[in-house]
Amino acid sequence: MSQALDEIKIGGLGASRKRVEDNRFIRGKGNYTDDITLPGMLHMEILRSPLAHARIVSIDASKAWDIPGVHLVLTGEMMATRNLAWMPTLSYDTQAVLATDKVRFQGQEVACVIADDPYIAKDACEAIEVEYEPLPVIVNPEQAVAEGAPVIRDDKENQDSNVIFDWEVGDAAGTDRAFEQADVISKLRLHYPRSHPSPIECCGSIADFNRATSKLTVYMTTQAPHIIRAAVALVAELPEHMIRIISPDIGGGFGNKVPVYPGYVCSILASILLERPVKWIEDKTGNLISTGFARDIYLDGEMALRRDGKILAVRMHCDSDHGAFFSDAQPSKFKIGLLHSAFAAYDIPVAHLSARGTYSNKAPGGVAYRCSFRVTEAMFFQERMMQAAADDLGLDQAEFRRMNFVRDEDFPHRTPFGFLTDSGQYAKCLEVGLKAIGYEDFRRQQASARERGRLLGLGISTMTEPLGAGNSREYDILGIKMFDSAELKVHMTGKAIVRTGARTQGQGHETTWAQIVSHELGIPAEDVVVEEGDTDTAPFGMGTYASRSTPVAGAAVAMVSRKIRAKARKLAAHLLEVSEEDVEWELGRFYVRSAPDRGVTIQECAMAAYSNMPDGMEPGLENTAYYDPPNLTWPFAVYIVTVEVDPETGVWDVLTTVAVDDCGVRINPMIVEGQIMGGLTEAYAMANMQFITFDAEGNCVGSNYMDYLLPTAWETPGFELHSEVVTPCPHHPIGAKGIGECAAVGGPAAFVNAVMDALSGTGVRNIDMPLLPDRVWEAITYRRDVSGAPPVRSDD
Ligand code: CDP
Repeated sequence: MSQALDEIKIGGLGASRKRVEDNRFIRGKGNYTDDITLPGMLHMEILRSPLAHARIVSIDASKAWDIPGVHLVLTGEMMATRNLAWMPTLSYDTQAVLATDKVRFQGQEVACVIADDPYIAKDACEAIEVEYEPLPVIVNPEQAVAEGAPVIRDDKENQDSNVIFDWEVGDAAGTDRAFEQADVISKLRLHYPRSHPSPIECCGSIADFNRATSKLTVYMTTQAPHIIRAAVALVAELPEHMIRIISPDIGGGFGNKVPVYPGYVCSILASILLERPVKWIEDKTGNLISTGFARDIYLDGEMALRRDGKILAVRMHCDSDHGAFFSDAQPSKFKIGLLHSAFAAYDIPVAHLSARGTYSNKAPGGVAYRCSFRVTEAMFFQERMMQAAADDLGLDQAEFRRMNFVRDEDFPHRTPFGFLTDSGQYAKCLEVGLKAIGYEDFRRQQASARERGRLLGLGISTMTEPLGAGNSREYDILGIKMFDSAELKVHMTGKAIVRTGARTQGQGHETTWAQIVSHELGIPAEDVVVEEGDTDTAPFGMGTYASRSTPVAGAAVAMVSRKIRAKARKLAAHLLEVSEEDVEWELGRFYVRSAPDRGVTIQECAMAAYSNMPDGMEPGLENTAYYDPPNLTWPFAVYIVTVEVDPETGVWDVLTTVAVDDCGVRINPMIVEGQIMGGLTEAYAMANMQFITFDAEGNCVGSNYMDYLLPTAWETPGFELHSEVVTPCPHHPIGAKGIGECAAVGGPAAFVNAVMDALSGTGVRNIDMPLLPDRVWEAITYRRDVSGAPPVRSDD
């Protein structure tokens, strides 16, 4: 081939290639866990606790055992005889698999029935008689630390309170000194409410233990198959090479499918005991009341300011409610995830954060719902605080941000909490956003509308997200270092298969990883198949969450492609009968430097790897790369929203939403846009309508889609996306930064800030999310803040 291949034409970097996985999804041919049926398969259902906190007096399962078609009833007592009543969590805590002593949240797993079909199993669950002795219930951090509060985790030795951790980061003394210098101190307190990632597909597993081979195969809805394999090996004390975790198609994860759930463990034990495959598929209420909740964090803080707008320091405190078990995954070094990534985009000399985590009688919470370990909470607080501070100073919202941004020439920049950011064009992103929204015009319209009693508002939110955990020096989960991997096999005809340790849940890895191979090797993307999610075939990896796939696994794909290219160069030299140093590369082709017409394609090299390799060369064209990133990637975004609030009803409508995302080099611009639109939709839902909470007895309110609302195309406003700012990541092999979560992270504050801006001048400083019409109406009518939660700290 004499001409360089056109990268876009072959589906390489920058091609808006249609998602290959959609071929099966839009035909209804996806293969989800519940689509799998194995010969002789049985079905498992879980009996859940109706009470949030109660001692278990007795469990009588005799009537369940008597129901025809029932094969096994598992209770905590039986699990305990096998040392499986409790399991370790991903945050060095323990979690009950089936309750033995107490139930600690409504919906907790108490017993399981395995039967011929799910209906028999469900009926049999209802036949189990459990006697409970109710205990006082704790539903927020204030109650958790109140004097005389019952200790929820009395199962743990040395746990004599409900405090899980007290953690701090930053420079407390330096922050105190800076506050002494301040002209103005701006304060804000808010609650980021519990929310649920609520993927459309609930959790489930099919465990299949084969006594003849001693092999355990588990099909399951997990975002991190290798971590699950390690957990099963350690908890069930099974040999790791005899465990195969297969994560088939996943119908959305958003962090909800990272933890290990009791249902997985019970189905595995049941399959081992019964020597038959056992399927467990959770129903929607089960998913909404018992699996990984997110957020539920009380944030308050203050900002030390100079009169001219310079930020001198920030002080933050948070109380996070983790539910009954501390089971969310996070890097073990950071107890409150990456909350301390707050204010990374602003040049702030000093800051201090204290964080206290507590147990409550709620389902386990704190999972990283579409975010990098608490960065959503960090960015929400940051941008709400920025709005409040600008108002307190009487400065323009845009100008206040612009003057405090880290400047382009200041990178690498050490953030006030110690991260090192490496690149970005923050002011330019803001400028693009302001122009797109027509900032000056809108401010004029807003002022004249106000005179006529109409409430218009504009909200700005910026975000920079630390994406791509690790590096392995700083990031580990349960001691397992956070890196990722890719294996690439180029067959003799030049077709290829790439496997990674990540696991797509709808993000389009099957499309984009092929594009990276295409970019590096010139093999058309359609000739590259991508496979993930099977621990027997995929190289070890930490899975997909925290938008780490492109920063880490995607980088590994580029690196393994480069290893393949290095070998192909040797093959090319052999075929061209020149020395390797005389061989040049262009997309898809090696050629002789002094005679560019003499060349061989990558496909010809692939054939030679199996049929005509030089003496002494190992045959074949395949390799594996483990990629340990030198740093996180730091995408940046500006979201600007305009709204109109109806003062009579508190209903607010979005007028325009502008998003300017800089995620470095975009592999597939169309997929990136899809990720941003999805994230903005979730952000709008959190700000506007999603409400899942607990009453004083610990009953979960909102445990179904009638109450916990998912916005459809009908409710969702339109979004205007801008892609003109591109700051390649300096350390990523193809310059990409993560994007999957950015809009869900930065979006909520833009919507809330817009409504608060509409209310400016009324003295209302904060309305907690969701900004339901009654809350907004109350704020307007009574000119007061509306809290979504009771106060949490006794000293306030
Ligand atoms: O880890 P996760 O896949 O959720 O997030 P991500 O790495 O940000 O990637 C989300 C999707 O966007 C993947 O298909 C990526 O390959 C794609 N992407 C891209 O095309 N260009 C980027 N700069 C970042 C992500």
